[in-house]
This record gives sequence, structure tokens and C-alpha cells, in this order.
Amino acid sequence: MNCCVFRGRQSARPFYDLVASIAAEEFGHIELVATTINTMLTGAAAGEPGGGALGDVKSTRNTQQFIAGGAAALVQDSMGKPWNGDYVFSSGDLVEDLTHNFFLETGARNNKLKVYEMVEHPAARALTGYLLVRGGVHQVAYARALERLTGADLMKLFPSPRIPTDKIPESQPHIERGEHLKLYRFSQEDFNEVVAVFNGPHPETGEDLTVADVPHPIGAPAHDLPPQPAVFAPDYAPEEIAEIAQKLRKKAGLPNEPTGTVSEESADMLQTLTGKIG
Ligand SMILES: [Fe+2]
Repeated sequence: MNCCVFRGRQSARPFYDLVASIAAEEFGHIELVATTINTMLTGAAAGEPGGGALGDVKSTRNTQQFIAGGAAALVQDSMGKPWNGDYVFSSGDLVEDLTHNFFLETGARNNKLKVYEMVEHPAARALTGYLLVRGGVHQVAYARALERLTGADLMKLFPSPRIPTDKIPESQPHIERGEHLKLYRFSQEDFNEVVAVFNGPHPETGEDLTVADVPHPIGAPAHDLPPQPAVFAPDYAPEEIAEIAQKLRKKAGLPNEPTGTVSEESADMLQTLTGKIG
């Protein structure tokens, strides 16, 4: 986990603004990873409960995903090892914290490339292609912050690791939109001082690094992934929950149809995803 400056924020403002802006984006990335895992698990355990519907997944490496996860993301790595508080690093030394974060971003990009090489599912490839680009921005941002703070010329470290994102098809659209150069502030009003640190040329392309004037990347409505009966709960069935929710909605004077925005392409999601897996 990227780490934060907990004390003396005001005096360290440009650096605090940088760490806080990146931390906010990381939370979004956790959501993206969870969405990707949920998408990939759609249709992975097919069938209706009652007849050994989970027989096919009992020999998967992370069986716990199906036993405890309900075909949904769990807060753990690919071997089932859970996240814990040890992942939060805050030494009280800004140089050490920034170096630690630079190291984390470097390692994360290397790991993402390995994941990219492991997967064929389009959701996983789309995710890793995007995160390689955004992780690159974070890596450059920490390197630049260390340069500004200490004078060390970290430009000479790049490319590190040597990942040609411009040749990765799933990374290309994001590079074309300039996502490899932009840092988001995730607030219209705050964290303005990040411009004092995040500037100058990108170490690999020489293009200008910029702080985005929009608060966050343009997203898209999430898919409303269908229920997965094979990872059943003994009670209630998804239809029963829908029925109870409908009654409560009516009683509360809410519209008949569920509110909220989801992707219009969600309806035939299960078929599409099951097709990809098969
Ligand atoms: Fe990152």
C-alpha cells in the first residue's frame, strides 16, 4: 500500500499533496481490481445448487474463493494470503517513505506484467494494460518527488523495469489519451500544491508531466453482474431478495424500478462472460 505522511502535513504540503493524490487513485484501483475479479468469476462456477454445482471448482488453487467468497473478490492475493496492517508503511522519514513508495510502484509494474502474461480473459488484460500505464505515472511521480527533495538524478534509473507499454495493445488507448503523463488530484479544491513537485519531462518520452484539471479520469457505469446460484446462500434466493426489496421500495414511496446507474450492456453479461470462459 502506498504510504502517507501522517504528521507535519502543512509544512510538507507539495509532497503531502502528491502522496494524497496518488493514494486516492489507489483506492479506485482496488475497486477496479475487485470489479475485474468479480467479472472473471461470473460463470466460473455454473449450475444450480443441490446437485454438486461446485464440484468443478474444488481443485482450483484458491478454493477459498468459492467457499467464502460467493464468486466475489476477497481481500487477498492470488494464493489466498489476506491483506493486513503490515502493508501500511509510515517511517516518519519522508525520503524513506517516498523511496518505499517508488519501490512499491516499480515492483507492482513488474508483477502486473507477469499477470498480463498469465491471463487471456479480456477483463484481466484490460485491467493490467490500464494499471501498467497509471502505475508508471505513480512511479515517475515518486521519483520526481525524490529528485525535488534530495537532488538525486533518478531520471537515469528509467525505464525501470523495462516495460514497453506503448507496444501493449491494452495500454495503447490510455497512452494515446495522455494518461501516462497526468496526475489526478481527486478534488477540485484541494491538493493544488502537487504542481510544485509533479512537473518537468517524463523520463522515458520527454513529454511534459501535467496535473489534470479534471478531478478524476472519465469512467463508465459499472456492470450489474448477475447472481451466481452455484455459490448459493441457503436463504434467500436472489428472486426472493428482489421481491422483498421491491416491497420495501414500494412502502418507502420509491419508484418501482431500482434506481442507480448501471451499464446498459449488463443484461447479456452472463452469456458473454460464460462464452469467454468456455
Ligand atoms: Fe500506483
